[in-house]
Amino acid sequence: MPRRSGARSRAGTNDPAGAVIELRPGVPDLSSFPRTLWAAALRRALATAPNSALDYAEPAGLPVLREAVAGYLARTRGVRAEPEAVVITAGFTSGLSLLGRALHRRGARTIATENPGLVRHRDVLRAAELTVVPLAVGPSGAEPGDAVGQAALLTPAHQHPTGVVLAPRSRYRFIDWARRNNAYLVEDDYDGEFRYDQRPVGAMQALDPERIVYAGSTSKSLAPGVRLGWMIVPAPLRRDLAAEIFDAGAAVSVLDQLAMADLILRGDYDRHIRRMRLVYRRRRRQLASSIGVPLRGIAAGMHALLPLASATGEQRLIAEGRRRGLALTGLHGNGYWHEPEGQSAALILGYAAPPAHSWPAALSLLTQLVQQSAAELVQNRGPDGVTVGL
Ligand SMILES: Cc1ncc(COP(=O)(O)O)c(C=O)c1O
Repeated sequence: MPRRSGARSRAGTNDPAGAVIELRPGVPDLSSFPRTLWAAALRRALATAPNSALDYAEPAGLPVLREAVAGYLARTRGVRAEPEAVVITAGFTSGLSLLGRALHRRGARTIATENPGLVRHRDVLRAAELTVVPLAVGPSGAEPGDAVGQAALLTPAHQHPTGVVLAPRSRYRFIDWARRNNAYLVEDDYDGEFRYDQRPVGAMQALDPERIVYAGSTSKSLAPGVRLGWMIVPAPLRRDLAAEIFDAGAAVSVLDQLAMADLILRGDYDRHIRRMRLVYRRRRRQLASSIGVPLRGIAAGMHALLPLASATGEQRLIAEGRRRGLALTGLHGNGYWHEPEGQSAALILGYAAPPAHSWPAALSLLTQLVQQSAAELVQNRGPDGVTVGL
């Protein structure tokens, strides 16, 4: 989730004794960024690229990276894409904004987005002059019966923020809806690479590459500051999307593109992801066993949901967490719901964010906080020990 304030310490001081450990959802451990690998990739790119590579590049991205990404996604996510379908973006949000404009250019006026979902995504779609309508999210993911308009934005592999997977039946129903309505589905595969309990469910895009725009980002696999991602785009949308990138001057730095291609082609990107997957899997297990109350959502990604009984309880826990040195994020108070009234509350625990040296302290502070807050927790648990129904 984007950071809104730079505050990192209590009372706005730089006093390390007052430091706050952030459990920000959707953020990787920034201290694990592969600096050496990136520097080496950049050095190789600079040493080998001809001068002509430094010219204005194609808005859709450098052929070498588009080819590398097509191969990587086919191999790791089962995506069906020829290199011409790949569009390099400055991250998911930028790609979504430009895609929204391209869809509008082609006559779209309404897009459905998950409820709850990231408010930032609704904002950029509204800025693209699209009306945003809610898709309810249940235990099987977004509800296809709610789809209206000319597009729907989905997080099938790991719904953000509830952590459920979009059921196979729902995937087919969304595709059927898109085909019947000449609509597009946007698959935000924001942490598809990070599944811990089994092999990741493949990308939905493979079920219908003509109706699904697949979108990936390096914000979780490398770092959000890199601002690099990709979209796999059905042929009829490609020209309009490239035109939006060109008009916005939103093409990505060629040096970053060359370095990224190098990282993928040498296998270093896969190796880094595999390494981080082990780190986050271990953290998630430690979190689940340490706090002693069931978390919601599959074992995947960078966050888990701790359902709470009320929005006031959420505020109380966040305030108490801050007093103890933890920055926590609530489901109710952060714009995830299209309309928050009457909707449920939770803590969205971003366990990937703390650097390794802070993780033990984060875990222990969180465990104490949760164990001393029984009154705020949701009591109704499903038969498998997983809290059901948001
Ligand atoms: C649901 C979701 N999708 C996508 C992203 C990645 O966005 P970006 O690539 O713009 O950083 C995030 C990042 O937090 C996210 O939470």
